[in-house]
Amino acid sequence: MVASLIFIYEMDLIEKFIDLDKIEGNRRWAMKRVLIVYYTLGGNTEKAAEFIKKGIESEGVEVVMKKGIDTTLEDLLDCDGIVIGSPDYFSYMAGGLKDFFDRTYYPSRGKVEGKPYFAFLTHGGGGKAIESIEKISASFKFKKVMNPVLIKNAPSKQDGERLFEAGKEFAKIIKG
Ligand SMILES: Cc1cc2nc3c(=O)[nH]c(=O)nc-3n(C[C@H](O)[C@H](O)[C@H](O)COP(=O)(O)O)c2cc1C
Repeated sequence: MVASLIFIYEMDLIEKFIDLDKIEGNRRWAMKRVLIVYYTLGGNTEKAAEFIKKGIESEGVEVVMKKGIDTTLEDLLDCDGIVIGSPDYFSYMAGGLKDFFDRTYYPSRGKVEGKPYFAFLTHGGGGKAIESIEKISASFKFKKVMNPVLIKNAPSKQDGERLFEAGKEFAKIIKG
């Protein structure tokens, strides 16, 4: 009984001295985090996302990379910037990406305005789907800080370099 009371008292003291919010704040200060949310069926868009990821990481910025269907509200709220990638399916973004936007729109309202973003797309020669991504990003009030990167089908070596550089540039913007 006495031992339990001493334990509770000590825990109370520890909580007084350790401000958990401050620790979280310091982590955010120490390392920025970018969310890459994308979708793919054939793998082209995932390959493109990997190049961007490497570019971002080359600037010492952390990356969380997930398919739209696996991405949570917390992933969106916790990031300092967002990279949005999709294949062009029927001149629109992939359903597996749209799912993320549908789920997070209401619960993120008032919490994500001004979050920096840029988009990338792989397509078969059309590329019109980029409009749907930019339109939905405007609905979320994300801040477009870079022009979109459009890649025809699987990224070539040159495309890979473009994507890497785009990731690097975005990370620099995020770091400020
Ligand atoms: C169901 C389906 C619909 C597509 N519709 C379009 C289209 O409207 N315009 C276009 O440019 N490419 C279209 N494509 C081609 C894909 O956008 C392109 O191959 C893309 O790189 C595939 O990405 P993924 O490998 O990540 O799935 C379509 C492909 C599929 C499978």
